[in-house]
Amino acid sequence: MHFKKIRLENFRNHSESSLEFTPGVNLIIGGNAQGKTSILEALSYVCLTKSFLQQADLTVPKFGSDLFAIDAAMEGDRSVMNHARVVYGSGTGKKYFLNRNEIRRSSEVIGMFPIVMLSPGDFTLTTGSPAERRKFADMVLSQISRSYLEELVEYRRALKQRNKILLDGKISNILDKEMLDAWTDALVAHGAKIITKRDEFVLDFQETFKSAYATLVESGEVPGLYYEPSFKASDAIGETFHRELEKVFKVERARGATLVGPHRDDIGFILNDRSLKEFASQGQHKTFLVALKIAEFHYIRKMLGETPVMLLDDVMTELDYKRATRTIGVISGLGQTFITSTDMLSFDDKFLDMSNTKFHFVKEGSVVYENARV
Ligand SMILES: Nc1ncnc2c1ncn2[C@@H]1O[C@H](COP(=O)(O)OP(=O)(O)OP(=O)(O)O)[C@@H](O)[C@H]1O
Ligand SMILES: [Mg+2]
Repeated sequence: MHFKKIRLENFRNHSESSLEFTPGVNLIIGGNAQGKTSILEALSYVCLTKSFLQQADLTVPKFGSDLFAIDAAMEGDRSVMNHARVVYGSGTGKKYFLNRNEIRRSSEVIGMFPIVMLSPGDFTLTTGSPAERRKFADMVLSQISRSYLEELVEYRRALKQRNKILLDGKISNILDKEMLDAWTDALVAHGAKIITKRDEFVLDFQETFKSAYATLVESGEVPGLYYEPSFKASDAIGETFHRELEKVFKVERARGATLVGPHRDDIGFILNDRSLKEFASQGQHKTFLVALKIAEFHYIRKMLGETPVMLLDDVMTELDYKRATRTIGVISGLGQTFITSTDMLSFDDKFLDMSNTKFHFVKEGSVVYENARV
């Protein structure tokens, strides 16, 4: 799919901005703090119903306003047109309309307009905590499987309730065992499905990832991924999960929190049979991350039969010139791509097909000039 156009109203520092996009590469150029990332953020609202920066909706309306609106038109791979409208008001909350019909659950729309993002926040994916890697797996799986997303929502709800009961029990010294058992059952039922899907995903994703990595390095480096669930389970995942919870019950009571389950999973990253986290150079970390994103693109397209849109925020500053141009060269050939940058000097036709590229200049929350440089 690709975006045809978007209009932002009172969105971050944009009072009113309208952009028309090329299905190829859209370069969003402007100085710092002019409103480039905000445009990508608006695109993420359309695709994911929320900000990819993981900011609360209430931070988004332009200062002095208490509502924002986004209107976007998208064309699918099979030429189907869709129109999305996201409106938020501080009193009314957020509403999502697809072709004028209100969407009540975000799972109805997530995956319809698939998206892959690479932004400065992602650079902790390989170096940071397991939560970053769970987020990566969840982002891919949620876009390709509505049932996964629904399981995840239910799991989080059960986890929250169960933690609350454990914490209340710790504070008051009286544990509501009946309620706890009920939420344990829900946790196990949804958790077992999440574990199964994550396990399948990591196995299935492996090949796509290895070939993506190979397009970025000369040779000699073999990367890999493996699933590290919070407990080892064979076929009977639900039963094992129950047993593991029983084993740690005393500690959970003492700490007032759930200690095993998919919210404690990790994905191990390896390079040439060694842990990436412990042994890789900074450059290898960056290449690994870019390969994950390219593989994410291919994997989502394969699973959904719909081409994702790629958003690259600030990669020219996050990656060295050689890695950045190589990344952009590979990614821009895949589908519609949005790239933000503070200058256009780094872009040339050695790695970018200029006949397929449109420049959007952003200044003080306005798109001051748009021109296809052909
Ligand atoms: N709710 C808001 N209302 C108005 N302005 C906002 C709001 N939230 C953030 N801003 C400001 O909007 C401006 C544009 O932010 P944005 O992140 O889009 O900049 P950018 O062009 O990507 O800059 P950089 O090159 O530094 O990444 C910033 O000055 C930011 O502080
Ligand atoms: Mg920015």
